[in-house]
Parts: sequence; structure tokens; C-alpha cells
Amino acid sequence: MSTINPTASLRLARAQAQHKTPKPFFQVFRKNTRVAGRYCRNIRVMGAQNSTVRYAPGVKLPDEEHKTCIYLDYNATTPIFPEVADEMQPFLMRYFGNPSSNHAFGRPCNAAVKQARERVAKLVGAKQEEIVFTSCGSESDNWAIRGVVAAAVERSKEQHPEREFVPHIVTSNIEHPAIEACLKSMASQGALAYTEVGVDKEGLIQPEAVRAAMRPETVLVTVMHSNNEIGSVQPIAAIADVAHSQGSLLHTDAAQSMGKVPVKADEINADLITVVGHKFGAPKGVAALYIRHGTSIKNMFFGGGQESGRRAGTENVLLIAGIGKAAEIAEREAAETSAHMRAMREELSQKLLEEFGSEDVRINGPHDASKRLPNTLSISIKNLIASQLLAEIGERVAASAGAACHSGGGPAISAVLKAIQLPKEYALGTLRLSVGRHTTREDIDEAGTCIIEAAKKQLSTGA
Ligand SMILES: Cc1ncc(COP(=O)(O)O)c(C=O)c1O
Repeated sequence: MSTINPTASLRLARAQAQHKTPKPFFQVFRKNTRVAGRYCRNIRVMGAQNSTVRYAPGVKLPDEEHKTCIYLDYNATTPIFPEVADEMQPFLMRYFGNPSSNHAFGRPCNAAVKQARERVAKLVGAKQEEIVFTSCGSESDNWAIRGVVAAAVERSKEQHPEREFVPHIVTSNIEHPAIEACLKSMASQGALAYTEVGVDKEGLIQPEAVRAAMRPETVLVTVMHSNNEIGSVQPIAAIADVAHSQGSLLHTDAAQSMGKVPVKADEINADLITVVGHKFGAPKGVAALYIRHGTSIKNMFFGGGQESGRRAGTENVLLIAGIGKAAEIAEREAAETSAHMRAMREELSQKLLEEFGSEDVRINGPHDASKRLPNTLSISIKNLIASQLLAEIGERVAASAGAACHSGGGPAISAVLKAIQLPKEYALGTLRLSVGRHTTREDIDEAGTCIIEAAKKQLSTGA
């Protein structure tokens, strides 16, 4: 028997009525509560109650940290959404069984993994057997590449044992290191060859450029769905048509897209899709790979028969329950959350543009709003040193820079900013400001003012 602290419930209800942010509270299990078959003394479980507060877009998180430092780095990672934390809570201590065990302890865990798979499948527009849980986006990306290459080599050995076959992959020059470094490493071992297709100045890949890069031995085209720095959303359906017309598979890294723009497997015609939990409200350390039924891909992990024999290793039930809930929220709130993020992003953008003027400011990424993530503002202020500015205001605003200045050598400008050919005087002054479900108008106002003050000071004094 557990009991909820009545004072905390009351506080939450009152806060909701006044539309204020509630303070975190503790759900306290009464002394000697039976938890997971054992009597425990005074276990304190932190959480929030779905029934009393609805954490819709724009509702502040119940966390003191968010009152002192404004978080504008949602593309790096999102906070764990309160409803997600609630969903995970029982699997932290109470339900600890192995989901493969067919007894009272295993069954609730198995049911949780099943429900999470259904929820992620719904978000991607897939069948649940096409979703495999992994440990992170990097694993999903690596698996897509390694698995397709291994299957292609095996096929070639069976069909043409006399021939040496080196598979070829087409990718872009703005991919995340999880793709880029994997390709580089495999190519250095002679396991594959690859071609990087360049983007235009808005960070978009032209399907015809992909066509031109295809070779008879191309087995995979891997192009990210949207970019983490400048938010460009790629024409994946058209790129998939090119890949398929030449007998290749199509993988897309949709880490940044989930919860922001629709990603449905059939609409974009992808064979493989990377989904990353910590970019849409789930904890870090859980992700998935969508594998279209019938796709030729080898396993990367070997061992037990988990995940229908596709990825060995006992499922991380706690985190999988989290990604499932996050997927359910993302699917249910899709329109509401992206409208909220777009409104916050635009307000911030306007505030900065009004201050610095369009002459000395560039907004990176596609001009057409439908081709840019609704939450991402990559803004470059001429002659500013963004990394210095962010270090200075780091206790009040958390965001990312597009380039880092090293004391010894020259500045390290990000590969994405280089790819869109942003001049150095703008690249060094690039701020990546990414808003999210819990960003509020006050956050934008305060962060905007803080950035403006610090930038003006730096530009006028050089300090
Ligand atoms: C586009 C993209 N792909 C892949 C990843 C890697 O995800 P993880 O950190 O979970 O390995 C990230 C994370 O930043 C990302 O932004």
C-alpha cells in the first residue's frame, strides 16, 4: 500500500489552478511498504502527478535549475519529460524482472517493452516487429551501415564467390559523426567505399546530386532526415526514390526530427530509420532502429535471442518504458508542440534581428520554413565570437556555438557551417539556439536580453 503525500498533492492542485509552476514533490511510500516483494523502510520516490498537472507545451518543468539557467539546447538533449519519468518509475525498483522470464516478475517488464515498441512503431508509422531497441543513436547509425554492408558482402560471396566485392555508400557532407566516423573507419579498413554529396548554401541535398554519386556497387544511401545544427529537413522521399531506382537501400538518421516534424516510414519510403530517445523527452541511452520488413541487414550484436533475435542483450526495460512514453507524447502532441516551438523560435529570432539588424546577421538553414526544424535557430552575428559569449553567459543561458576558438591554433568551424560555405566572420559568431516543449515566453525574453547585452558588450569592447 502506498500513499501520496497530501500536502504535495494540494500544492500541485493549487499551482495548477493559478497556472504556476509547481515545486517538485515526493511521493512517499509508507514505512514498511511492500515493494517488489520486500519490505522497505521509507522509500522516497520523486515524481509528478499526471492527474493534477498537465505538462503541455509551454508549461515549465518542476525543477529549480530551470529558474536560474535558461535551457536553449534542446538539440543537444531534452530534459526527461515529467510524464516520461512517471512512466519509468515502477521499473526503477518495483518491476525488475527480466522481460524474457515467463513468471510474475518478468511479465510486467515484457508487457512494458511490448507497449513501448507499439508506441514507437506508431510514431514511425511502422509495424511493431519493425522496431528494434538499441542503446543510442550512434549504435542505430553504426548498425544500419555495418549491417547492410555485411549482408551485401555475404550475398556477393554466395552469388559470385570468385569476385572481390567492396560495397559503396552514398552520404552527405553534413552527417552526424555517428555516420561520418563509422564510414571513415570502415573505409580505412577497406570494408567499403563512400561518396559524400555536398549540400547547397541552405544545407539541402539535391536528389540529383545523389543520383550522380550512385555506382553499380552502391548498397546504401544514408542521409540525415534533419540537421542538428541548422535544422535543414532533407527531401528524403525523393532521395529514397533515387536510391531504390538503382537497387540501393535508404537509411535516414531521424534523431533530430522526432517530436518536431512528421517522420512516417511509408511517406518517406525509408528502409531504415534511426530514432533517438533523448532528443524528444526520453532519457539518454535508449534509441531504436526501424527496419522495414524484408530489409537485408545483418546483426551487429551476437548473444541471446532478444529483440526477436536481432539484437542480443537484455532489454533496458526502464529506459525502453521511457522512450515508449515519449513516443506516445510526441505522436499525440505533434501539431501542438511544433506550433509552440515555432512560435518561441520566431520570437527569439525577431528579438535578435531587431537588435542587430539583418545586415550583420544571418539565419542559417532553409528560408522556406517548411524545410527547417521548427525549434532550431542557427544565427550568425558578424564579428562576434560565439563560443566566448556562451562561456560568459553559461550560468544564465545554455546553448551551443557553431565554432570553437582554440588558444593555440585557428578556430574550429563546424563541418556543417563549412559545408554551407558560411564566411568565417559569420561562422565564428554562430549560435545554435534550440527551443523545446518546455520553453516559455519568459525564457525567450530573458535569454534574448541576456544574449543581446553580452553580444553588444563584446562587439563594442572586444571583450
Ligand atoms: C543527428 C544525430 N544523429 C545521431 C546522434 C547520436 O545520438 P546518441 O548521442 O544517442 O548516440 C545525434 C546526437 O546528438 C544526432 O544529433
